[in-house]
Amino acid sequence: MYTLVVVVLSLLSFLLIKYCRRCRYCLETKRLDGKTVLITGGNSGIGKETSIDLARRGARVIIGCRNAMRAEAAVKDIQQASRSMNVHFRKLDLSSLRSIREFCRDFLEKEKRLDILINNAGISSCSTVTEDGFATCFGVNHLGPFLLTTLLLVRLKESAPSRVINVSSDVYRMATMDFTRFRTASRPFASYSSSKLANILFTRELSRRLEGTGVAAFSLHPGYVSTNLLSNQPFLIRMVMCPIVCLFFISNEAGAQTSVHCAVSDQVLQHNGGFFSNCRPAQLWCHAADTGVAKKLWETSEQLVGQKA
Ligand SMILES: NC(=O)c1ccc[n+]([C@@H]2O[C@H](COP(=O)([O-])OP(=O)(O)OC[C@H]3O[C@@H](n4cnc5c(N)ncnc54)[C@H](OP(=O)(O)O)[C@@H]3O)[C@@H](O)[C@H]2O)c1
Repeated sequence: MYTLVVVVLSLLSFLLIKYCRRCRYCLETKRLDGKTVLITGGNSGIGKETSIDLARRGARVIIGCRNAMRAEAAVKDIQQASRSMNVHFRKLDLSSLRSIREFCRDFLEKEKRLDILINNAGISSCSTVTEDGFATCFGVNHLGPFLLTTLLLVRLKESAPSRVINVSSDVYRMATMDFTRFRTASRPFASYSSSKLANILFTRELSRRLEGTGVAAFSLHPGYVSTNLLSNQPFLIRMVMCPIVCLFFISNEAGAQTSVHCAVSDQVLQHNGGFFSNCRPAQLWCHAADTGVAKKLWETSEQLVGQKA
């Protein structure tokens, strides 16, 4: 009897691990010669793997990162792994509206194209506020990408057909959009999940506003990926998460697949404004598909950054 229980439990654990680590790869072979891709947080994790894949396809890849030393080391790695020298770094700190404005001024001055913008950078530790006084998760994960995207829209429209890809997460399901707490650092998980819900609402409103311009927008869940995302969490959380990450999380390369798919596939264009997971369109829970909330978030974000898009 005891042996049978052990065998059944082992089998169930094996199936659960296999289910959690299931991952579809992007099979598109499309080249991106002559295209320019900007990817935020391209120095690490999912962003770095996405950069390698897109550089391999011939794109000019620019990684927007806050730390020059880490970024320059990553540029070398990406160049080596993709066998492309057309990989570059520009300084961008998404926690600072000033840095985003400087970055965009410089980008628009020097870059004649922007075919794919991937808002990938993100943080999960949310206990402080940004230099502009916003809760860090909201500031870095939503407000920064909102300002960056709206300032770069001019170049995206000129380069149409073009795409904006927002890396969200399926933890949005546990979130609510609380319009009263943008300036207060609240419970870390609640802040993180609500910033990921904001990514989805932003994408939907963006695609609605860009109808007919040739600029498409998508949001996605990359899977649960063993990156540095948890590295700033308290020691105890990291210790608890360690075995879970080892058993259930997928590799960085696997985690980049849905971003790559949204960047290169022509099939995704039928789902403009949509949410993707595992290289497929995924059904959104209704609170994330609420057009009224998406519109309110857009207008609130415009007021908070002091910029009408
Ligand atoms: N890993 C997962 O399981 C998972 C699941 C769902 C969604 N996601 C999403 O996937 C995206 C990528 O995360 P990851 O897992 O690849 O984590 P990661 O390895 O920690 O990468 C995050 C990237 O964001 C950058 N970043 C953080 N704050 C920034 C700021 N203020 N300005 C500019 N860049 C900043 C980081 O730069 P530094 O190197 O300088 O810190 C890093 O390059 C995030 O949006 C995350 O929410 C991840």
